Amino acid sequence: MMRVGLVGWRGMVGSVLMQRMREERDFDVIDPVFFTTSQVGGKGPEIGRDIPALKDARNIDELKAMDAIISTQGGDYTTEVFGQLRAAGWKGYWIDAASTLRMESDSVIILDPVNQHVIKDALANGGKDFIGGNCTVSLMLMALGGLFRENMVDWISAMTYQAASGAGAQNMRELLNQMGETHRTVSGLLDDPASAILDIDREVAGVLRDDAFPKSNFGVPLAGSLIPWIDKDLGNGQSKEEWKARAETNKILGLHGDQINIDGLCVRIGAMRCHSQALTVKLNQDVPMDEIESIIAGHNAWVKVVPNQKEISMTDLTPVAVTGTLAVPVGRMRKMYMGGEYLSAFTVGDQLLWGAAEPLRRMLRILVE
Ligand code: HSE
Repeated sequence: MMRVGLVGWRGMVGSVLMQRMREERDFDVIDPVFFTTSQVGGKGPEIGRDIPALKDARNIDELKAMDAIISTQGGDYTTEVFGQLRAAGWKGYWIDAASTLRMESDSVIILDPVNQHVIKDALANGGKDFIGGNCTVSLMLMALGGLFRENMVDWISAMTYQAASGAGAQNMRELLNQMGETHRTVSGLLDDPASAILDIDREVAGVLRDDAFPKSNFGVPLAGSLIPWIDKDLGNGQSKEEWKARAETNKILGLHGDQINIDGLCVRIGAMRCHSQALTVKLNQDVPMDEIESIIAGHNAWVKVVPNQKEISMTDLTPVAVTGTLAVPVGRMRKMYMGGEYLSAFTVGDQLLWGAAEPLRRMLRILVE
């Protein structure tokens, strides 16, 4: 059996990965070895059978004994260890959730329902580095994969509504603390049906602007507000998160010549772990709506076309409906005033599942099978 090292399995993405690997019985088909950066010799996780004590995630000799390594430990770990491992002659498969190696020419960005052909080609050519994509990009491709497969996309404008989890576990906690603090400030007024809404609003604005408001992770209030910038400032008016849409989409699809332009604004909102996106798709030609819907729905087993109607959009096309599931609903689809080649769409996906953990475990399955 393939010896697979797991690093970072205790973190947020790692925990989701572990849960999915248990559900899909992935541990039955591999020989897992659990690594740690802090508790060498400690007990590994429960996987239904005996496993060796935790090994040192910085011990290159121990890592070198693996046929494959899955890391959800984060970019700093990848930067520290990956180069040393390869320099030591390790020829195993490196499967990583961090962005560090994503754009390297030797790396493939993995999202097999969309780019199995790219993954298979890389394996046939000796590729060893398989890196998970940016969550927003992966979720957009899971939703619109059919349009890309049929070469129907001229360009896309993607306006995102990204959840707190994309910023990290501490940020999810902070969002909830912000919500609680906001409510606490006005709970007395809320309980009084005779209180004036503008008094409540003034109190809320006051607490959100208070220096003592809990915001050490986000830096600003997210509850009761939003943050119209995600990741680094590239200095050209674009955020790094926005830059990734075009760069990663084209790399995932294996497009080297003519690139598909994808651009937009990335915004953090107060959802927990589902990213949403409002998309304007410029199609290459005016294709009827029923054809578009069937191409999108038929692309993979997880995308779900939600009819463009009020009730079902409100119930089925939201972070609340999707959280904790692999479903990728896409709805609000219609032709826009601009013309028959302009399609609107709205999609939601769990950024910890398809956006992070799921492509990694599926890559392992591809290697094993
Ligand atoms: N960069 C994403 C975000 C998450 O901040 O939401 C990771 O892909």
